[in-house]
Amino acid sequence: MSDEVEGEIHKGLEGVIIDESAVSKVYGDEGKLLFCGHDVTNIAEHADFPETLYLVWNGELPTREEYEQFRDDMASRRELPDEIIENLRNYASADLHPMDAMMAATVTLSGYDDHIITNEPQTFEDKIPEVREMGKSIAAKLPTVTAAYNRIREGKEPVEPRSDLASGANFLYMLQGEEPPEIFAETMETALQIHMDHGANASTFTSRVVSSTMANPFEAISAAMGGLAGPLHGAANQDTLNMLEEIDESETSVGEWIDDTLEGDGVVYGYGHRVYNTKDPRAYILQDYAERIIDTEYGDDKWYKLAKEVEAHMDQKGLEEKGIAPNVDFFSGTIYQQMGIPTDVYTNLFTMSRVGGWIGHIVEQYKDNRIIRPRVKYVGHDERGWTEMDDR
Ligand code: MLT
Repeated sequence: MSDEVEGEIHKGLEGVIIDESAVSKVYGDEGKLLFCGHDVTNIAEHADFPETLYLVWNGELPTREEYEQFRDDMASRRELPDEIIENLRNYASADLHPMDAMMAATVTLSGYDDHIITNEPQTFEDKIPEVREMGKSIAAKLPTVTAAYNRIREGKEPVEPRSDLASGANFLYMLQGEEPPEIFAETMETALQIHMDHGANASTFTSRVVSSTMANPFEAISAAMGGLAGPLHGAANQDTLNMLEEIDESETSVGEWIDDTLEGDGVVYGYGHRVYNTKDPRAYILQDYAERIIDTEYGDDKWYKLAKEVEAHMDQKGLEEKGIAPNVDFFSGTIYQQMGIPTDVYTNLFTMSRVGGWIGHIVEQYKDNRIIRPRVKYVGHDERGWTEMDDR
């Protein structure tokens, strides 16, 4: 085989198929998303977070017995070791972003998990039961890490998780110190479900790359969190709300702000997607919840109305015809803001859901692994002689 790397370069691996997966299917032209064959709209309407996790990790919806056992097992894993809480206090004193605090806490949690994968010469297949156990523990604890960190940096004491509350309700209870209104609990539960998986997005690809070396799920998931923390990926939800606040404070109209931004090669956050050529189906679901909250005593329509003005102006510019439309991050912040969640926590909420998809893909990688190791085309110097430093 020639030492020259030949062939077309696919920047950003655009259009490159890296493997097969049975976890989710994204219909980019139709604007549809399936988890293991189930439309995300049905999942949002009929299931809850544990049931969706079970589906994504097992490929089938659970029976009632399977559901109750899995739900209770997950709820029993929510508590954090005291040492992790102390670590969170140190991160707060360093003013870490909530995503960075969660990354650090995740890899540290491996020191408190009995299922840690040792480097004994086991096969990938042999390790899958341990991967699933670690995955359950990590997924169960991320809401507790996020809520505890936010309370600590607000000068409050963490609130212990409750195993009798559903996932969304428990997170808001731990975050705000009181049981949330039903509409908030239902909205949070749905947000935890619909962000769970989305094919080979950057963070999921990261989880597969790291897992392909037989690194353990704590390492793969904390690496994937790093990918999701970027503004071109998961952090777009917080940047979308920051953008709406910037528009609101600007002297110009919404249309002028957008036109100036696009003409200046700026970014309209929450818009566009590598796969969708139309509005993200998850955006419709989140819009519905934004409107349902607005209709209650807790409603605050300021940011949702402004988001709708942005969408109307973008539609007038004919961008959807060019495949540029709202994605999952466009409306999510207008919901979280109404629930009193700080803007820089929004990407943690995305992570609390996407960790389910990462674990589903990690198991797939373990089932039929080949270390992910692409090539780069060398365009540097040809081989050349050495020049001593004093002669350079
Ligand atoms: C996601 O859900 O991860 C985002 O839509 C980004 C993507 O799919 O590339």
